[in-house]
Amino acid sequence: MKPIKIGLLGLGTVGTGVVRIVQGHQEDLFSQTGSGIEIARILVQNKSKERSISVDSAKLTEDYRDIVDNPDIDIVVEVMGGIEPAKTYMLEALARGKHVVTANKDLMALHGAEILAKANESGCDVLYEASVAGGIPIIRTLVEGFSSDRITKIMGIVNGTTNYILTKMSQEGADYAEVLKEAQQLGYAEADPTSDVEGLDAARKMTILGTLGFKVNVALDDVSVKGISQVSKEDILYGKQLGYEVKLLGIAERQDDSISISVQPTMVKKSHPLASVNGVFNAVYVYGEAVGETMFYGPGAGELPTATSVVADLVAVVKNIKLGVGGRRAFVPYKEKKLRTDEQMSAKYFILLHVEDKAGVLARITQVFAEHEVSLESVLQHPNAANPKAEIIIITHDANQASMKQVLKAFESLDVINAIKSVYRVEG
Ligand code: NAP
Ligand code: HSE
Repeated sequence: MKPIKIGLLGLGTVGTGVVRIVQGHQEDLFSQTGSGIEIARILVQNKSKERSISVDSAKLTEDYRDIVDNPDIDIVVEVMGGIEPAKTYMLEALARGKHVVTANKDLMALHGAEILAKANESGCDVLYEASVAGGIPIIRTLVEGFSSDRITKIMGIVNGTTNYILTKMSQEGADYAEVLKEAQQLGYAEADPTSDVEGLDAARKMTILGTLGFKVNVALDDVSVKGISQVSKEDILYGKQLGYEVKLLGIAERQDDSISISVQPTMVKKSHPLASVNGVFNAVYVYGEAVGETMFYGPGAGELPTATSVVADLVAVVKNIKLGVGGRRAFVPYKEKKLRTDEQMSAKYFILLHVEDKAGVLARITQVFAEHEVSLESVLQHPNAANPKAEIIIITHDANQASMKQVLKAFESLDVINAIKSVYRVEG
């Protein structure tokens, strides 16, 4: 029986892991699919580059047409990353009837709808499990595991770099800049860390999770994004004293038929399972109307964890080919998109203010909350030897987002407030 032939686009971190797993797990892969799986050609940028894995040099090519136009190749695995030329290669492969597996979150978040439409038109599968939370099978879980339920909330720690930084800041009381530098030296954070630390990487992943969870075509622009570069060690310290850990959370919520998606540093109650997800690990919390609370935890990146998800997709595509159902199962969102307005959203907030330390200040501040109908859970004044002014921490009850914006606007011109030092959403 002829093996299924794979064309691999990319032999970097993930591509190397894919080769290792496909070569090392042949017997198990055969048992599950009834077919051999052979990596026939591999596209790289530079054939002469030294590799950490030994591959037959005749398989390497620098010309994508050797894969995309090759009639022997059944499945294209795209692990080269970036938008172009990966998008063009993928669309050309689909046009030639080849199934595609990808780990490319950037491409799926920005052009997923176009790629899936092309897959359906061509009768091909496109699977992308590794694009969110690396080794955690969260995409299959949302599409298949929760197919009988209606998801109302997805909260994710979906970026390992920022979770590593926040964990270190929390555990060692270190500064953001100091930990970022160390993370870069250790190779956790990239030389240009903007996409990770400013929340863009997490936003792309939440675009994919929101689309799958709510069956709505979420666009990247629908996600409001704030990263961790303004998180201070003082915020983390005060949060800890009050029973919270600061985490960069992607939060996707649905109420009736309207949705909202955001990424922001969030104070997570220590008793919530997301608060104890530390280091480079990822976790996705999913709340379904019927199932209630669930959480999925594991490595969000790395050679073998990510390749595990890629090869699991490969197994699924091979099974579809063998069953003759390839290309009939691509998930396409079918619900109308309605975004929640500020008036429809509510959350608890943590606010740290620097204020004048004199009589009547608290009354002025609480009056502003009262005027905008925001109810308070706690108000604490912290003595701080380093600050001659007073530091006040306020935690609200669930507050309407539009009202909270008005409160913060009013604070900007309130003479007793010297600075609105920080504002965090609170969860758990
Ligand atoms: P990587 O280590 O940078 O490897 C990229 C590979 O693609 C290299 O082999 C490179 O060739 C090749 N390549 C890049 N551009 C090319 C071009 N224009 N033409 C031909 N070959 C090209 O990337 P990676 O970390 O494996 O990531 C791959 C994908 O997986 C990305 O979409 C990433 O977001 C996603 N992902 C990665 C991880 C992770 O842990 N790394 C986790 C989840 C998802 P050369 O080797 O010759 O330079
Ligand atoms: N830069 C990403 C992270 C890699 O830190 O999680 C995995 O997508």
